[in-house]
Amino acid sequence: MATSEKSRGNWNSKLGFILAAAGSAVGLGNIWGFPSQVADNGGAAFIVIYLLCCLIIGLPVMIAELAVGRYSKKNPVGAFRSVSSSWFAPLIGFWGVICGVMILSFYLVVAGWTAGYVFEEIFFFMGYPELASWFGQLDNGLKNAIFSVLFMLATIAIITGGVSNGIEKATKLLMPLLIFILGMMILYVLTLEGSAEGVRVYLRPDFSSINTDLVFSAMGQAFFSLSLGMGALITYGSYLSKKQNLVESATYVTLADVGIAFMAGFLIIPAMYVAQSSGVQIFDADGNLFASTTLVFNVLPEMFHNMGGIGLIAGVMFFVLLGMAALTSTISLLEVPVAYMIDEHNVSRKQAAWSIGGLIMFFAVIVSFYIGLIDLLVVIFNNIGLPLGGLMICVVVGYLWKTESALKEISHGFENVENTWFAPLWSFFIKVICPLVIGLVFISTIYNIFN
Ligand code: PFF
Repeated sequence: MATSEKSRGNWNSKLGFILAAAGSAVGLGNIWGFPSQVADNGGAAFIVIYLLCCLIIGLPVMIAELAVGRYSKKNPVGAFRSVSSSWFAPLIGFWGVICGVMILSFYLVVAGWTAGYVFEEIFFFMGYPELASWFGQLDNGLKNAIFSVLFMLATIAIITGGVSNGIEKATKLLMPLLIFILGMMILYVLTLEGSAEGVRVYLRPDFSSINTDLVFSAMGQAFFSLSLGMGALITYGSYLSKKQNLVESATYVTLADVGIAFMAGFLIIPAMYVAQSSGVQIFDADGNLFASTTLVFNVLPEMFHNMGGIGLIAGVMFFVLLGMAALTSTISLLEVPVAYMIDEHNVSRKQAAWSIGGLIMFFAVIVSFYIGLIDLLVVIFNNIGLPLGGLMICVVVGYLWKTESALKEISHGFENVENTWFAPLWSFFIKVICPLVIGLVFISTIYNIFN
């Protein structure tokens, strides 16, 4: 049944894996989701809570996912089967595969918007406003379908290249480029009028706004942003060598994700206030900030359009940046069901990528024409699906596989880990703290949905 280790692929280098995993984590969630959540939820107060969620919940769960993946050298279904004989363990992995398929179905549509906006900016500045506005329509089914299919084709092309030749090579190029473009754009936006107010809003903590809702949104954002709960990091972990220190790698990936989200805040929030100072509306009639989709896809293009010639460069750069961040995430979302097909159904990587990719493309075309579905899919697969998956990973690793076995796996690349302070601390987090907090998030999410 299982294919040999050789045909599954391996990361070529330590840095290659870290960039690929950071590429999975850094995506629309960081640049589209995080800054508007900060602006909506009391500025720096949200950042503090988000940071705590990433370090207290995200990091231990990430280490657990990587350990399960590297120990089993399998996709999430096979991985859970390897670490537990319980009948429900493979079902948890299968739930992850379904989450990957469904999240990708709408993620592609949003990623497609970024590509559409590159053309929107170009045609706007070339003096074709009608054509530009066609590319900028968020609810144009045909346009959405074209761009999501193109995005999927790019993802499939990289995935069929394999682990080190496809995923690792692409992310090794895209990630440094992304950080460079982001840095350049921040420096530029900070020179514009109105940006200082944005920086002030971003960094001013309003601790009175901390309530359970804020904690729960920060937690959900942390899960989605770190790509946790659906086995993406089990899958990426399954291509890791025994020499790699899992704790160190997970720490780098978490810090990269948090760091880039923090940087994106320095771009988006000041940019919103720059837009406001040039007459663009960023708050609705009740004084609430526009929803994240409106902010990123309507307010920012208006700001670019008000900037003259330099707006073309800034606008194209911004949407290329967003598209690149999305691409390194769509790769990891597709890799989960592809690895499942390769391991469990004994098909080639090419067949797996085209068959599963084709199915997801079909779903994405449906979502393209009915974009109202995005909200529903977000609730089911992000808000409920990922925390549920994360909770189950903690239960399996903590109580079925046992943290002692996981620590044995972690000790490859981190010698003597059992005798360090890390071992009891991580075990306590996986067995008690993480399931407790994630369980509370999960119950509250369900409660909020039905109230
Ligand atoms: N982490 C990605 C983002 O922030 O956009 C989204 C994501 C990718 C979620 C991969 C889950 C996943 F497995």
